[in-house]
Amino acid sequence: MMKEQITEIFDIINDTEDFIKGGWRKEHEKITLKEKCVMPIGKVSTDSIEKLVSEINCCELCELCQRRNNPVPGAGALNPSVMFIGEGPGAEEDRTGIPFVGAAGQYLDKWLSAIHLDREKDCYIGNIIKCRPPGNRDPYPDEIAACKPFLIRQLTLLKPKMIITLGRFAAQFICNSQDGIGRLRGRVHYYEGIPVVPTYHPSAVLRNPEYRKPVWDDLKQARELLDDIESGR
Ligand code: URA
Repeated sequence: MMKEQITEIFDIINDTEDFIKGGWRKEHEKITLKEKCVMPIGKVSTDSIEKLVSEINCCELCELCQRRNNPVPGAGALNPSVMFIGEGPGAEEDRTGIPFVGAAGQYLDKWLSAIHLDREKDCYIGNIIKCRPPGNRDPYPDEIAACKPFLIRQLTLLKPKMIITLGRFAAQFICNSQDGIGRLRGRVHYYEGIPVVPTYHPSAVLRNPEYRKPVWDDLKQARELLDDIESGR
């Protein structure tokens, strides 16, 4: 076993012992990644998007960290009307650290303008996983599980008025369902009281033009729902 691993194990044993003995010691206030992800009982939450982004930027919770150039935490308005949730960064996103800037992103921009949403002012754009899977393969369940707390915290902090999921992985995650996207789309779901409109992923629509019509139907439904929410109907 490597020296660093032994040190890490002793750290965990010490932390657990301290916690059981009745409190987090003062010196534990210096934050390590391990502690940042587990709020000790009795501590007041001081979570923020900035804190979250800095944690994502140094995250090593799954193997994707080893090959990433940049994590892609998410970007946009901090008080968004709509949070869009995609699958995971592609090559261009990994290069820039910004979500949806490649071909799928440019197509998504067209969807936004079709329903009169400003990317910076009205939307927050994020992903299920924050680091690029090699060769753009589907994310593995352990990678989704490792990244899950980040997305949940993003949703808690941002409190979007509506969520639009892009593709199967985001729809299944947010709707807590194993159904395929073809079954999940076409109706409104709810995540913690927030309306969710699932639709196809822009990359899938670029490959399959027959998805254009259902996507347009979903976007129109989302726009109408948002108008209702924003006008208090
Ligand atoms: N596809 C995604 O799902 N997310 C991105 O950020 C880019 C492409």
